[in-house]
Amino acid sequence: KLVQYNTINDAAALLRDRKNIMVITGAGISTSLGIPDFRSKETGFYSKLVEMGINEPEIVFDIEEFDLDPRTFYTLAADILPDLKHYSPTHAFIRLLQDKGKLQTNYTQNIDNLEELAGIEKERLIQCHGSFAGATCRKCKHKVPGADIFADIRAKRVSYCKPCKLQIAAAQAAPKPKKRKPMPQRRHSSSSDDDMDDDIPQPGVMKPDITFFGEQLPNDFFTTFTDRDANSVDLVVVIGTSLKVAPVSEMPNYLPKDIPHIYISRDPVEHVNFDIQLLGSCDDVVVDLCRRAGWELTHEMIPTG
Ligand code: OAD
Ligand code: ZN
Repeated sequence: KLVQYNTINDAAALLRDRKNIMVITGAGISTSLGIPDFRSKETGFYSKLVEMGINEPEIVFDIEEFDLDPRTFYTLAADILPDLKHYSPTHAFIRLLQDKGKLQTNYTQNIDNLEELAGIEKERLIQCHGSFAGATCRKCKHKVPGADIFADIRAKRVSYCKPCKLQIAAAQAAPKPKKRKPMPQRRHSSSSDDDMDDDIPQPGVMKPDITFFGEQLPNDFFTTFTDRDANSVDLVVVIGTSLKVAPVSEMPNYLPKDIPHIYISRDPVEHVNFDIQLLGSCDDVVVDLCRRAGWELTHEMIPTG
């Protein structure tokens, strides 16, 4: 690289000068709101599951596990349900970049949908891992607003598809065929493997439109990154992510080497060579950056005076 960028003042100058900024975000930008991240020691959602004795906590978001036993997700996901009433100063910072006409795209791994609340435009937002904004039946693909399954998640019970249930009820009410089937075995209400008896139709399970491990990322992730952004952004700012999950973890390395890479988070990462690392609370860092850039960042969580 011809020019070296090192300091927080360099970062502030880059924000002022550059026009097409890519912002890549993770769970760290929402922790100040009380939403846990995944991998922080003690507080992270996965770290807590490990403490509970679940050694591979990622199974909560594993599509094979979900189809095998949706209770794994439904009994454990309550802690990460979005609150939806507040966004953080870091969300406000991304919004400020948009207001200044500098935000090209915010790639978020977060499923809390708070970018929308902060007013990030749809065309500038890629939700790499989907979100809780919608839910879809695994069987008939019926879609509902995500909030429709929140009560079930809070109550730790599996959410089933209403149209599927109706169809089953209608089929059972219809006149029976002449040939009688053997009576089904009496079953316990707690499910076991032979619960999934082929003769007894089961309604589909509702799955939030989050990208589970084993599922493809949304199409717009690949098309927007490759066709629109990878060769046109002039600065990348990565905030509040451990960059442990592919393919998002590889995005910074796929951008041209001559565009400055800035990292803002509590813990450093190894596999990407960032020009500038600003380690600390991301809310504090963006407030400081805006001050140095001469920008006014307003948000209820920023102390005034
Ligand atoms: P992680 O928990 O892996 O990383 C969050 C990072 O943010 C950590 O490095 C923290 O140090 C940092 N952090 C936390 N709070 C912070 C704060 N207030 N200020 C600055 N830094 C802070 O979360 P992600 O990288 O987002 O997938 O995880 C990626 C994916 O893993 C998630 O999207 C999720 C999970 O599997 C799905 O939900 C499908
Ligand atoms: Zn259905």
